Amino acid sequence: MKICELDTGAPETVRLVTQVWTAACGPDLAITERFARFNLEPAAGTELAGCVALHEGSPAGFVLASVTLHDVAGLQHPSGWIEALAVLPEYQRQGVGSSLLEWAQTWLAQRGCTSLRLGGGLRPFVPGLPVQLDREAFFRRYGFQPAQTESVVWDMAGLLDRYRPPDALKDLAVSVRPLQAGEEPELDAFLAREFPGRWRYEFQEHLRQNGRPEDYLLLWTSRGVDGFCQITLEDSLRPLDRFYMHGLPRPWGQLGPIGISAGCRGQGLGTALIDVALRFLRERGTAACIIDWTHLRTYYEKFGFYAHRQYLILYKELIRRA
Ligand SMILES: CC(C)(COP(=O)(O)OP(=O)(O)OC[C@H]1O[C@@H](n2cnc3c(N)ncnc32)[C@H](O)[C@@H]1OP(=O)(O)O)[C@@H](O)C(=O)NCCC(=O)NCCS
Repeated sequence: MKICELDTGAPETVRLVTQVWTAACGPDLAITERFARFNLEPAAGTELAGCVALHEGSPAGFVLASVTLHDVAGLQHPSGWIEALAVLPEYQRQGVGSSLLEWAQTWLAQRGCTSLRLGGGLRPFVPGLPVQLDREAFFRRYGFQPAQTESVVWDMAGLLDRYRPPDALKDLAVSVRPLQAGEEPELDAFLAREFPGRWRYEFQEHLRQNGRPEDYLLLWTSRGVDGFCQITLEDSLRPLDRFYMHGLPRPWGQLGPIGISAGCRGQGLGTALIDVALRFLRERGTAACIIDWTHLRTYYEKFGFYAHRQYLILYKELIRRA
């Protein structure tokens, strides 16, 4: 078996990642080339690298890793991720996965990382290890441990033709509407104040890549913007494959992140925002919606959503070499 560094910008890498990931993870977690191409572009302020394991010249598995290049998205620098690791079923249990993981760990350690996370990078394939893959034992063997708090996150699914607003929905003096061109500075100022880390970074990335302004909805109170959420539709910048909606009726849609100003929480604003966002998605034809990467199961159950997929958040501490 030969390990070779990948050219992450090459079209053949897009095909390789799509095919190997889909074969290793199965149809529930299948991805398209559009998603692989999107994720093979490093997120701003990060470096991405990977390698392929070749058996007699043909791919047996690959790994992708990324690292911050400077302080970005409110994260400690350097922050490093194993973004994706996949070995074709016929080559599993032959040492391929461990060789690829070793390569990625060395690459990250050389860039100063002392702690690695599986998934959950700034342009993620997955938030963590999909529990359905049943690979916790592999990662534990190589020193990965579940996060000390909130080690499990969920994707919640809802069928929008059955959507009924929750009983707790109040008639509030707020308005919720899509971001209009020209209002970007208002949303950016709100995010700088309330969510200065990853969520602001993601909005700035969305603008940088000419994402559609209306994929953000704003909640306005008498004092200005006090809440926001992001949606993803089939034709959005961010490919919907990220949310692994196979088995749910199409067209698909996604909702999240969702955030309300710290000073206004507990007054029903979040419920009002989510209600408008779900009706907005339904009006645009969405049949099934995912609210992804959340700990708040019971909150979203109030909107008729149910647990669709579970992820385990795993970290590995690297010992810094002298
Ligand atoms: C996880 C994965 C990459 C491991 O690759 P692999 O090439 O099979 O792993 P290795 O052969 O290097 O494994 C070495 C050791 O890890 C452990 N291990 C590997 N697979 C395991 C499994 N399914 N269950 C329990 N332990 C496992 C074993 O102890 C194995 O040693 P052994 O050969 O003596 O039994 C592979 O199973 C895979 O592609 N899974 C689907 C994708 C995935 O889960 N990716 C993670 C999300 S990014």
